[in-house]
Amino acid sequence: MKKDLLSLLDLEKNDFDHLFTRALQLKKRYARGIFDKILTGKTLGLIFDKKSTRTRIAFETAMIQLGGHPIYMSTQDTQISRNEPAKDTARVLSRYIDCLAMRTFDHSLVKEFARASAIPVINALTDSFHPCQILSDIMTVIEHKDGYKDVKIAWVGDGNNVANSWVNAASVLGLNLVVACPEGHMVKPDIIRAAGADTMDHIIFTSDPVGAVKDADVVYTDVWASMGDEEELAGRLAAFEGFQVNKDLLSHARPDVLVMHCLPAHRGEEIAEDVLEAAGAAFWDQAENKRHMHKAILETLILG
Ligand code: CP
Ligand code: NVA
Repeated sequence: MKKDLLSLLDLEKNDFDHLFTRALQLKKRYARGIFDKILTGKTLGLIFDKKSTRTRIAFETAMIQLGGHPIYMSTQDTQISRNEPAKDTARVLSRYIDCLAMRTFDHSLVKEFARASAIPVINALTDSFHPCQILSDIMTVIEHKDGYKDVKIAWVGDGNNVANSWVNAASVLGLNLVVACPEGHMVKPDIIRAAGADTMDHIIFTSDPVGAVKDADVVYTDVWASMGDEEELAGRLAAFEGFQVNKDLLSHARPDVLVMHCLPAHRGEEIAEDVLEAAGAAFWDQAENKRHMHKAILETLILG
């Protein structure tokens, strides 16, 4: 049966560990000039309703380097924009391509595509989740911290799609995760309950950013207003006071703290310029690792 990747709750711990091992292996092989043409003749479709630099290009280059072909479709250029039903589009695309990566607003749309498709559907970000991002981010944690076990990860910022995927990953992998969001911007109760995180001692929710980063090995942040919520930013700035990842906040973390951000970043809002520009920062490794992780995801879903 075909498999989709819509949320990290679709994966078991073994699936995560396989993807980390394989992505790290593919990264090493690529560095040695070995191109594994394992997806020769295969085609990946990409339907993106929202902007993207990293995810789109990482998927496209991953597919090309594995010997396959990507086809990018802006929703505006397809009959989807003229209201062809998702289930019809999904059935038609299943006759042409081998896998579909989608970036949409409403998460229910990727679910609808996945239900109607005969091919694997990958969530390349929705309003609810960003699973591929967190897979490559944990790969980056593994590289920098020699694993993810006993690593304290602090999320500081909005309870958004990226935070939701961290909660899902923490639930499946048993990560030590503290999620700090301002009042009114916390990860939603249905996300917490669905992940079972409300009953897990290793996942903590708080509105105290200083307490959250205390002795943290990893501090992660993301924009205060995600794509689609931009008009709310001005009204949010006061609520997010004290949540900027800057040197003061990081002084409470471990001295070797790894600061992470999925990017794009808003300097001077959720992260200070000097933190973003610090030598040896992980942000660019995170961006690179998306390509290696996308290869492992594509191989697993397309070849089964
Ligand atoms: N981190 C991330 O998903 O970036 P893009 O929006 O550029 O794809
Ligand atoms: N939370 C951000 C992530 C961008 C990669 C957004 O959805 O805009």
